[in-house]
Amino acid sequence: MSDDARRVIVDTDTAGDDTQALLLAATSERLDVEGVTICTGNVEFNYMVENAKYTLGLAGLAEDVTVYEGAREPLVKSHEHAEHVHGEGGLGGELFPDTGIPSGDQHGADYIVEQAREHPGEITLVCIAPLTNVALALRKEPNLGELLDEVWVMGGNVNCLGNITPAAEFNFWADPEAAKVALRELDVTLFDWGVTVRDTAFDADTLARFEESDTEYAEFFEEITQSVREFNQESFGEDMTTQPDAGLVAALIAPDLIEASGTYHVDVDEREGLTRGYTSVDENGVTDGEARTRVIESFDAERFESMFEAMLFEESPEAGL
Ligand code: BDR
Ligand code: CA
Repeated sequence: MSDDARRVIVDTDTAGDDTQALLLAATSERLDVEGVTICTGNVEFNYMVENAKYTLGLAGLAEDVTVYEGAREPLVKSHEHAEHVHGEGGLGGELFPDTGIPSGDQHGADYIVEQAREHPGEITLVCIAPLTNVALALRKEPNLGELLDEVWVMGGNVNCLGNITPAAEFNFWADPEAAKVALRELDVTLFDWGVTVRDTAFDADTLARFEESDTEYAEFFEEITQSVREFNQESFGEDMTTQPDAGLVAALIAPDLIEASGTYHVDVDEREGLTRGYTSVDENGVTDGEARTRVIESFDAERFESMFEAMLFEESPEAGL
């Protein structure tokens, strides 16, 4: 990693796609992972804690990067996990790490606040889970936005179908109150489900090419994608994977992958019912809400794939650019 690497805290609900985002962040010369915080989300909490430690171990960072346990429940509502997508445990259904590595001795939200206060303007928050930890951190430190460098979020579905209901994407659906607070209080760069589907999907040919590699990372990728490939085959008739969390991290590593973006007023419907977690994005500026969320609208799919492949083949992600 270079001296001017961006310092990041990754807030994750570590299932398969989160592990790939963590690997990209951990192996990039342009990012320095300071700590990892775990938030309620994809699978049962203790699995996600172990999955994060295991992934950091794969990247050789188990001793350098501490995992902090955060919110075990959303702010207000409850949510179902996504084992049907990621497999029991979150890593494809057959891998259940038990690292024996201790977690950090403070709550994830406290860790975020502490780091932001100790290093004002230096930490970028990378949010690839429901936003509960972020909302809790904002309760403790209302000036969090000023203390952080940037906040990047994977979540929401910008004027397109969601992946958990027609109206909503998983991270915003799981804790809509938290998403609403985070978008109201922070200047967020948003990588949504729409750009994920358009520009981060790997088709069967690409997956077959990855399978030919026998690196540890490529074999891990093959394992964690088993369940999600079956799910996509059954649900959409297509053998493919999407990379929401890795897409966000790739955009942070190489902002020139972002082909188009717009800054809009974005809000989240927190009401229970059909529209729970719906992302309202005021593209035409018809509300009087403040336009402060930068939405990534188009992303370089080809260079993303090449960056991801370089990571899987255990070169630096930048080698694929
Ligand atoms: C998001 O929800 C989770 O299942 C994934 O890890 C990703 O963060 C995609 O909607
Ligand atoms: Ca995630």
